[in-house]
Formats: sequence, C-alpha cells, structure tokens
Amino acid sequence: MAHRIVVVGSSNTDMIIQAARIPRPGETILGGQFSMAAGGKGANQAVAAARAGGQVTFVARVGNDVFGEQAIKGFVADGIDVKHVIKDPDAPSGVALIFVAADGENSIGVASGANGRLSPADVQAAADAIGSADVLVMQLETPMETVKAAARMAASRKVRVILNPAPAQPLSDDLLKCASVLTPNETEAELLTGVKVDSEAKAAEAAKALRARGVGMVIVTLGAKGVYVSADEFTGPVPGFVVKAVDSTAAGDVFNGALAVSLAEGRPLADAVRFANAAAAISVTRLGAQPSAPKRAEIEQMLKR
Ligand code: RIB
Repeated sequence: MAHRIVVVGSSNTDMIIQAARIPRPGETILGGQFSMAAGGKGANQAVAAARAGGQVTFVARVGNDVFGEQAIKGFVADGIDVKHVIKDPDAPSGVALIFVAADGENSIGVASGANGRLSPADVQAAADAIGSADVLVMQLETPMETVKAAARMAASRKVRVILNPAPAQPLSDDLLKCASVLTPNETEAELLTGVKVDSEAKAAEAAKALRARGVGMVIVTLGAKGVYVSADEFTGPVPGFVVKAVDSTAAGDVFNGALAVSLAEGRPLADAVRFANAAAAISVTRLGAQPSAPKRAEIEQMLKR
C-alpha cells in the first residue's frame, strides 16, 4: 500500500529562458529559448512524491485563473488529492521567472501571489490529512506562520516532518524542534549556522550545529556531490549519481519528495537517501521543474547503475 505524504506549500507557473548564461544586472542577452512548465517548490515536491510512489495530498493556494486551473489539472493527472488546493479569488497564481544557463545552473525570481495567502486556517482545515500522514513535507515559499502551524500540528501528532529550508531564511528554534528531518543546501546551511559549507567537514559541522538546535536529522544537499547525512542511525556522505546536467531547477524539490516516500517506506536511512539522490539526479537531466520529476520505475532503474 502506498504511504501517505502531505505537502504544504507553494505552486507556481515557471516561465523559463534557456540561455548561454545568466544575464548580469542591467544586461540584455539574446538567443534564448522560452518554455513554460509547472513549478513551485511545494508542488514540485508533491509531484515528485506522487511519481515516486506516495499517496499525496497537497495543501496550497492558487489563483482563480488559467495558471491555477492548469496546475490543478497537472496534480490530478499525477493522482494527487487536491481537496485542499484552494482557488483564491483575490490573488493571482504564483509565477516564477527562471533563467537556465548552458551548464544547467539557474537563477529564479518568484511573484508569490496566492502562495502568500496560504494561512494557518488552511492548514487547520487539512488537520485530518496531516494528522494521518506518514510524512509532512514543507518548504519556505508560503508564510512562516503557516509553516509553523503545520509543523506544530504534525509534531503534536507524531507525524514525521521533512522541512526543506528553501528559499533560505532564518528559522526559530521552535520550528527546528518540530523538524524530524531538515534538508538545507550549502547556502541555506550557511545562512542557518554561519558555517560556510565548502567541504564535507564543514557540512558535518553545520549539521551538528543544527541538530544541537533540536532538529532530529540533518541532510545537507551538496549538488552533484550528493549529500551529507547527520542522524542517530547513520552519519556520513551519500554520493550522488553522475549525470549530464541540463537543468538543475527543482533537483532539491525532487530530492525531498522522493525522500518522503523512501523514509515512509522504512528503508534504512542510507538507502532512503540514495533513492532520493537517484530521483534528483534524473531530474537534472531534463528541462523544467515538474516535467523533470521521475516515475518510480525510472528511479529504480537508476539505482541499479
Ligand atoms: O525549486 C524550483 C522552484 O522554485 C521553481 O519551480 C520555481 O517555481 C520556484 O518556486
């Protein structure tokens, strides 16, 4: 039976320009290619978890517009429960403008729109789903008070919380104590701890500092290098898979969505993380956020490499 994953978070429509490189401030560059894709860190995590084999409920707000309509259609196509995806009559759907450079690196600006109106009351309305979930997944593209309300609710019901602290911002100890798993990348880990994560030893130092603030387990994501895990069960690096990068957008989101499924399935921690690494690696070989999230069979294939 599929495990229950609830994702509370953002949904965006991504406007993507693939260009030779990311323009500098004040610069115009020609020769890019435009495409549009479903995105938003929360929605990407929800889609990744559903394709990895989870039974997913998404709690979010979109605008009552064509982008919101399109986003919901996509969630339904992936088998996601959209009962708690609210169409907000007073704000547009979130939109992200993304530059993707030839080496796969990106730069993103987000107009949050309806995401900024996801409220603690919306979380309260989804209490049954959150309380009966195996894992709650969140990021930081919706208001902090909403993230805190969901984290508190899950923690009080002994539901495992994966908190992906992206985009980077300071976090209270209260929130960190509710996080069973925190998954910062190098920049986020540095902002949260002051430790510049430029080596495995520094990743270990940052992870230790975060665990001292009450986080159950820390997984520092290190891009193509894989991740560094600090947990009671296992501590050490878990290498990534070598792939040719086309677009790194949403690799972290795919990692978190797949991790929710593999942890809910009760795999040994290093195996669970390897599963998520495989999903993330596949995602960087494809353009776009949600279009890049792999199906479970593809992840299993990658794991055989
Ligand atoms: O993590 C990638 C996502 O960040 C994009 O899909 C974009 O919408 C922004 O939310």
